[in-house]
Amino acid sequence: MEKERSSFTGKIGFVLAAAGSAVGLGNIWRFPYLAAKYGGGIFLLVYLILAVTFGFALMTAEIAIGRKTGLSAIGAFKKLGKKYAFIGYLESIVPIIILPYYCVIGGWVTKYMVTFISGGAIHTIADDYFGAFIGQPLAPMIYFAVFLGLTTAVICLGVEKGIEKVSKIMMPVLVVLSVIIAVYAMFLPGAMEGVKYYLLPDFSQFSVTTVLAAMGQMFYSMSLAMGIMVTYGSYMKKEVNLESSVRQIEIFDTGIAFIAGLIVIPAVFAFSGGDEAALGKGPGLMFVTLPKVFESMAGGTFIGTLFFVLVLFAALTSSISLMEAVVSIIQDKFKISRGRSCFFTVLISVLLGVPSSLGNGAWSGIKIIGMDFLSFFDFISNSVLMPIVAFFICIFAGYVIKPKTIIEEAEEHGQKFSEKGLFTVVIRYVAPICIVLILISSVLDAMGIMKI
Ligand code: PFF
Repeated sequence: MEKERSSFTGKIGFVLAAAGSAVGLGNIWRFPYLAAKYGGGIFLLVYLILAVTFGFALMTAEIAIGRKTGLSAIGAFKKLGKKYAFIGYLESIVPIIILPYYCVIGGWVTKYMVTFISGGAIHTIADDYFGAFIGQPLAPMIYFAVFLGLTTAVICLGVEKGIEKVSKIMMPVLVVLSVIIAVYAMFLPGAMEGVKYYLLPDFSQFSVTTVLAAMGQMFYSMSLAMGIMVTYGSYMKKEVNLESSVRQIEIFDTGIAFIAGLIVIPAVFAFSGGDEAALGKGPGLMFVTLPKVFESMAGGTFIGTLFFVLVLFAALTSSISLMEAVVSIIQDKFKISRGRSCFFTVLISVLLGVPSSLGNGAWSGIKIIGMDFLSFFDFISNSVLMPIVAFFICIFAGYVIKPKTIIEEAEEHGQKFSEKGLFTVVIRYVAPICIVLILISSVLDAMGIMKI
């Protein structure tokens, strides 16, 4: 990279920028439907345990590796161990797969925002509205192009700094608004059953798939195992406390996901009349239930509009960080200009995004290991590639450069790192062993060889 490496202004700047990348559709769209599908309370419990152990250890390791080397993923691993450059390459593939379909879903959010703004909120409560929309060939593609275009514009115009400023206001507003909507949703008639389903773990629902889904979700939500946090770490000043920054990012990210679940799951119970099949609706869950919540609220059209504007914004801050990662990977790898790299990034996004969109309608007959394109890209990145990358990061941090190197980096300038024991045990033993076991069972499951 020819330009001098800039750094975040301080701890708040770092935490907010990392949280801007972390908080996005993963929290608001993906978390609630997974929690609904995988047993509610048990999924939440597994997720929380993973976040404070795996999530903490991995995020610490990635940020420390970035800060120590001052480089993004590919360069960072190479610098610390020549033979391990492959981890950086492997990490780099993940955002390339995620960005296209992320923009497809960002397009859905854009559509809902536009519909609410233009006074069409009432149409969105029909049960088949969402399915009918994503099943069309052209309309979702146009919204996909709009969302991708917005992301590209920010990257090309280099106005990330402005975005950062706006997000300092929008993010807190999103939190406050979500809490208000959650409190409302919880008290809808019949919603308490949903609150119970979400908060009280039912251990009979526990399975390996629950752990795998929760683990993939954690990586996705916290932008882990894809090189992003290494890059962010490289911008982090040495005097900023690494451990407490990681904790704050985690709390922010998990907090928003938790609240989103508290809106969507009780609402499903309230509006489905206790029909549990509604919980398994998958990716459309948020889009189908939220409009119903807004419709039943006083001033719901206004609140719904504001909500979709904020979600779109959260999605944009994430897609910008995703695209930034892809652009700089291509630029560094092929030694081309930033403009060209942007062009190739958009090209890849269109090539992979178009089938992801069409897979819900015209191409729904085409399945890869039983999944439509979007689900397949989601599965391959979250449930296969990210665990593999996370495994290698654990081996690298635990045995090659050793936990001591990470801890020393975190303690530079007299900072304290209090979770040394937890970090070492998780990164050396617990995480790698669990990842291997879970990965094997998930692949067997996907191939239909073994049902878990
Ligand atoms: N963490 C983001 C979310 O939860 O929506 C998704 C994401 C953003 C993943 C940026 C990866 C990334 F680089």
